[in-house]
Amino acid sequence: MPIAQRVRQHMQAASWIRGMFEEGIQLKQQYGADNVADFSLGNPVLEPPPQFYEALHQLVTHPQPGMHRYMPNAGYPETRAAIAAQLARETGTPCTANHIVMVVGAAGGLNVVLKTLLDPGDEVMIFSPYFVEYHFYVENHQGVAKVVPTDAQFNLDLATIAQALSPRTKMVLINSPNNPSGVVYPATTIQALGELLRQKQAEFGTQIYLVSDEPYKKLLYDGLTYPEVYPYYANSIVVTSHAKDLALPGERIGYIATNPACTDMDELQDGLSFANRTLGFVNAPALMQHVVSQLQGVTIDMRQYERKRDLLCTTLAAMGYQFVKPQGGFYLFPRTPIPDDVGFVKSLLQRRILTVPGSGFGTPGYFRIAYCVEDRTIERAFDGFREVAREYGLL
Ligand SMILES: Cc1ncc(COP(=O)(O)O)c(C=O)c1O
Repeated sequence: MPIAQRVRQHMQAASWIRGMFEEGIQLKQQYGADNVADFSLGNPVLEPPPQFYEALHQLVTHPQPGMHRYMPNAGYPETRAAIAAQLARETGTPCTANHIVMVVGAAGGLNVVLKTLLDPGDEVMIFSPYFVEYHFYVENHQGVAKVVPTDAQFNLDLATIAQALSPRTKMVLINSPNNPSGVVYPATTIQALGELLRQKQAEFGTQIYLVSDEPYKKLLYDGLTYPEVYPYYANSIVVTSHAKDLALPGERIGYIATNPACTDMDELQDGLSFANRTLGFVNAPALMQHVVSQLQGVTIDMRQYERKRDLLCTTLAAMGYQFVKPQGGFYLFPRTPIPDDVGFVKSLLQRRILTVPGSGFGTPGYFRIAYCVEDRTIERAFDGFREVAREYGLL
């Protein structure tokens, strides 16, 4: 047995998405990729915007000496300054380059924050349905994930959170727009959460950090404005990336942005840079740092995802599927018509439709559709969704 038992156990626990992925490869080999509707992964179908290629072309055709060398662990000062300026515009908070650490995607950023903040046994509150990787990230740094369910609309339930907070709570980790529910937490909820965390900090005599995982922040629908966390809570840290808003998930470029009002700001920033280095990332990819410093304020055309959401929601609702309409991101999380979400997902699989059971997100009785796919994939899947709806009495 070459691999550690802990890793083996985790691999088994996370087998839903992997299982679907492998099933998908097999089905695609057997029937051809065009005959399988693969909604299993959050891999954006859109290409990066034209400005990305222009910036990349400019850099490649006008190389500067040293542009591929090591740099400060926190990243290039000019990239961090460009990001801070954009964030200041978006949040109304006076961010500077000193508040930004460039990281290897939001996943890398979360690991850096966890390593910096956690002592063994510290609790990290996460909310179900959750992004399954959170469990592994928390465990990477000897933390304890404390799962708190959201309410029937997948919104934060302040009373349940109040009960679950403890003197060991070091971090509350939220994700909005949410993977997998598509919910955007309203400003009133963030405000109430901020008040609650302030109260609990005072009661316990501890610091509780609100970490906001925001890779879907720019994918907002129905004219919604993003409810920021900074105005409502000083000890807040944003972790994000350009994986979805610039469609660059493979390039692994993201950043951590600490609220300037955070206590012990300087020590925290030094800790983040140190963790970035010692986790082995050293620094975020140099070329992408040069590129994204020119692309702050640029995003992919999120109306395309909004259109896909509308197409999917209208058609599935007419078939009797029940769900909370997503306000952002590119996931839909409908209820399964039978309690056995794994069985239901298998029925879809028989129609060559790949989705992920809610059990994989700590919320059985639901299933996730990642609709970051071509329109024709969505349209092709409707017959299968309809057949399964009939089979289970929705129609
Ligand atoms: C909620 C959430 N957080 C973090 C990540 C990781 O993003 P990145 O590719 O920037 O590491 C993802 C990726 O899908 C995600 O859905």
